[in-house]
Amino acid sequence: MKSVIDIPDLSVEEIDELIKTAGDIALHPEKYAKSCEGKILATLFYEPSTRTRLSFTAAMMELGGNVLGFSEPGSSSAVKGESVADTARVVSCYADIIAMRSPKEGAAFVAAKNATIPVINTGDGGHAHPTQTLGDLFTIYREKGRFNNLTVGFCGDLKYGRTVHSLIEAMSRYPDVRFVLISPDALKLPTFVKYEILARHNVLYTETDSLEEALPSLDILYMTRIQKERFTDPAEYERLKDSYILTVEKLASAKSDLCIMHPLPRVNEISVKVDKDPRACYFKQVENGKYMRMALILKLLASAKENPETEDLLAGRSVLINEMKCTNPRCITATEQELDHVFRVVDAEAGICRCVYCEKKVKADSEMMKRVVRR
Ligand code: CP
Repeated sequence: MKSVIDIPDLSVEEIDELIKTAGDIALHPEKYAKSCEGKILATLFYEPSTRTRLSFTAAMMELGGNVLGFSEPGSSSAVKGESVADTARVVSCYADIIAMRSPKEGAAFVAAKNATIPVINTGDGGHAHPTQTLGDLFTIYREKGRFNNLTVGFCGDLKYGRTVHSLIEAMSRYPDVRFVLISPDALKLPTFVKYEILARHNVLYTETDSLEEALPSLDILYMTRIQKERFTDPAEYERLKDSYILTVEKLASAKSDLCIMHPLPRVNEISVKVDKDPRACYFKQVENGKYMRMALILKLLASAKENPETEDLLAGRSVLINEMKCTNPRCITATEQELDHVFRVVDAEAGICRCVYCEKKVKADSEMMKRVVRR
C-alpha cells in the first residue's frame, strides 16, 4: 500500500490493521506524539472542507509532524493553469505525504501516478472519499464491536453520496450485513452500485422512501445531506432538500442501541435536539476520523520507507489505452493535458469498461474488445 485512492485499494486485513492502530492511538495518544517528527504532510484542497482538512492537520500535528498546503485553488498556481500532475511532482519536493481533495474525479489517481510520495484521496468529486469511510468503519467497530450481522440504513442522497457508496462497498465484504436504502425516487442508489457491489457480494438489501418504516429494524442509521452542489437543476434541489429530517419523536421507534451516523456537514436532516440522544454518534465519528487518519499516515509513511519505488497503479489490471475517450465532464481527463485515457475491463463479454480515473462506465465496441482480450 503506497497511496489510497479508493476503498478497494485496501484489503480487509489492511483495514483491520488500521482499526487496531487507530484504537491504540485513541487509548494511548502519548505513545505516538513523536512518531512523525521531521515529516511533512501537504494538504492540497481544491474544494472546501472543514473536517477532512483540519482532521488531517490535527492528525499530523498530534504525530509530531508538520503541515503545509492550500485550502482553496485560488491561492495556488492552479489558477494559472498548473496541472494536477505537475503540482504533485512539485509538492513531492517539499513534503513526505499528500492529502488531496479536488472536484475533478480521478485527480488523486493522477497525483498518485506522478508524485514520488504517498497520496491520500480526500475526496474527488462524486467519485470516492476513502478516509471518511475508514473513519466510519472505525466508529462502527467502536460502537458495535463487529462488522458482521448488522442492519445498516442509509438515508437521503444515495445517488450522489460518495460516502454512502464507499461505506456500502466496505461493509459488503463482511458476512450477514443487510442494507436498507432510504431515499426519494430521484436519489436512489445508482444501478452500478447495486450490480457491481451488492450483487457481487450477495448482499441483502431493501429500498424504501419511508424513514419511519425503516427505523425499527436498524442497528446503524447513516444519514446524509442532500448535496446542493451536485445538482444541475436548482428547482430539483429545492424539491428534494427536506426529504428527511430525523427528530427525537421519530427516534422513539428505533432500537435502544441504534448508532446514528452522519459524515457531516449537517444542514437540517438531523434535528439539533437529537444531539443529546446517547445514540447520536456523529460527533464521535469526527474524532474517530482523526485517529484513523493518524493510523493511515503512519501506515503509508512506513510502507513508503520499506518500498520507495513508485507504485504502478495499473498493475494487474486489464486495460485499454487511448482507444476510447471518457465522456464524464467532471473526469480529470477532461482538463489535464496529454493524459492517456485508460479503461479497465469490467465485463469482457458485454464490452463493459470503466475509466480508471473517474470509474465512469463505457461500452467498448466488440472489435476493440477482441483486440484487448487477445493481448
Ligand atoms: N465529511 C467531510 O468530508 O466533511 P468536510 O467536507 O468538511 O471535509
